[in-house]
Amino acid sequence: MKGLVLAGGSGTRLRPLTYTGAKQLVPVANRPVLFYVIDNLVHAGVTDIAVIISPETGGEIRRALGDGSAFGARLEYILQDRPAGLAHAVATARPFLEGSDFVMYLGDNLVGMKIQEAVEAFTADPSLAASVMLKEVPNPSSFGVAEVDAVGNVVGLVEKPREPKSNLALVGIYLFRPSIFDAIAQIKPSPRGELEITDAISKLIELGGTVKFTRLTSWWLDTGKKDDMLLANDTVLDDWLVSGVEGHVDGESKVSGRVRIGKGARIVRSVIRGPTIVGENVEIVDSKIGPFTAIGDGVRVIRSTVEHSVLMAESSITDIPRLEDSLLGKRVLVRPGPARHGALSLMVGDDCVVELSQP
Ligand code: G1P
Repeated sequence: MKGLVLAGGSGTRLRPLTYTGAKQLVPVANRPVLFYVIDNLVHAGVTDIAVIISPETGGEIRRALGDGSAFGARLEYILQDRPAGLAHAVATARPFLEGSDFVMYLGDNLVGMKIQEAVEAFTADPSLAASVMLKEVPNPSSFGVAEVDAVGNVVGLVEKPREPKSNLALVGIYLFRPSIFDAIAQIKPSPRGELEITDAISKLIELGGTVKFTRLTSWWLDTGKKDDMLLANDTVLDDWLVSGVEGHVDGESKVSGRVRIGKGARIVRSVIRGPTIVGENVEIVDSKIGPFTAIGDGVRVIRSTVEHSVLMAESSITDIPRLEDSLLGKRVLVRPGPARHGALSLMVGDDCVVELSQP
């Protein structure tokens, strides 16, 4: 069984963060979403993995994952030269996948469940043409939607239907055999101009293939918007954070609950409440951090309180009495300016949101 991870696309939903980076590398609890994807594949015994990259963010994805040895995987990279759809990406990877069953995993999908059982069940039943993962959602029109019968077969699939026939969304994890290539060869681009994997699976069924599904019983998190990101962060910190202090905490500081503090970090006269993760080479002085907070590498927090927030690498917060429910990109500075009758002085990039407390 091989793995195919899709890490192309432009991530317009997560602007402004994705102006300067790939959506698959947005950190949740200080780790890019894509790292959890590779972990899940390796845990299921899938170590021979190709990563589909785009010309825009491919370099960044390669630098983050490397040759895969840090994950116990062997990675290779395949360039998809244009965003022509998920089925087009699969067709592009044909030389790598040829002759093998494979798991296709969308690199921006974060799930709380291990895929090992689904992979084993698929391998054990050669009568299946494909297997998909489904989860009930309140807004099925935003996804691929499946119709299933009483014996657990998928009988129909539609991509982002206006009038969905069920509330079962396709999670971005699929199990295929080489027969998917024949189906892809027979589909046409969708109204959004893409070769949809949803249509290719429908074609498989039309050609007589049996498609089963696994119901995703855990959470499935979107990192599409600020509140989703914060929720993803809360959930991962709550479920997966392992405590450990590698940095230095001085005698006047207090650390309580589940807290992870990275190498080279310095905590001085501060309070850290878990679940909270503090990255490497962070400096926290005279401050209160947490709970539910992720502080990226190289961040500085001085004389401030930060709660339920994500601060990405090398940001700096100084003299801010209370920062809450916030998502800050890399190298962001938040500090008081010279007082001019309460006037604000901002330098904020495109598509940012600045919400100030009521006077
Ligand atoms: C893609 C698939 C859709 C699936 C979703 C899961 O949508 O086309 O069927 O439900 O991923 O994340 P996209 O993210 O391209 O809109």
